[in-house]
Amino acid sequence: MTEHAGTRERPFLYVVVCAAGIAAGVSKLITAAQERDWEVGVIATPVATGGFFDIAAVEAQTGRIVRSAWRSPADPRPFPPPDAVVVAPATFNTVNKWAAGIADTLALGTLCEAAGLGVPIAVLPCVAGALAAHPAYRDSLARLRGMGVRFGDPYSGEPGPDGSRPEFAWTVALDLLERS
Ligand SMILES: Cc1cc2nc3c(=O)[nH]c(=O)nc-3n(C[C@H](O)[C@H](O)[C@H](O)COP(=O)(O)O)c2cc1C
Repeated sequence: MTEHAGTRERPFLYVVVCAAGIAAGVSKLITAAQERDWEVGVIATPVATGGFFDIAAVEAQTGRIVRSAWRSPADPRPFPPPDAVVVAPATFNTVNKWAAGIADTLALGTLCEAAGLGVPIAVLPCVAGALAAHPAYRDSLARLRGMGVRFGDPYSGEPGPDGSRPEFAWTVALDLLERS
């Protein structure tokens, strides 16, 4: 598996994956991003690497390792710098820690830095209604929006009246990046 950046012909998209059940479908986002001519590198939270999505399949799809841990200081940067960042799915935990400026994982450190880089950032939260009602979460959304971060519609992952779970709108993240 290629660890190094190589020649850059296409813009590079970081996809940050958090530990929500819906993460199992992240390949849909990667496919859609590649169809829109993004090169994709996936950064997962440590919890998300514990069975929330198929890491081997994503590595095969992107042609790159799935990153989760910091590199060693002597190692080269495994990914080129991002041209844009998507967080999908975004958990309650990661949204709150990111807004608070906590950078104790590679995913959070990447997110904390991204706004300062001035690249577009799109977030698709997957947060249950009961958690989304927490005032810290509302404050976090307001703070991140104030930093220019773009959010998709709330998604709770909870089944509707007919028992079926609504589709997670993966491609909206890409639409948000393209918004001027
Ligand atoms: C099966 C499963 C599904 C989960 N789904 C969600 C979810 O949709 N949204 C969420 O905010 N947390 C969800 N969680 C809880 C998170 O995994 C937990 O808060 C974790 O600490 C988040 O870590 P991360 O933000 O670093 O990825 C889920 C946990 C489990 C075990």
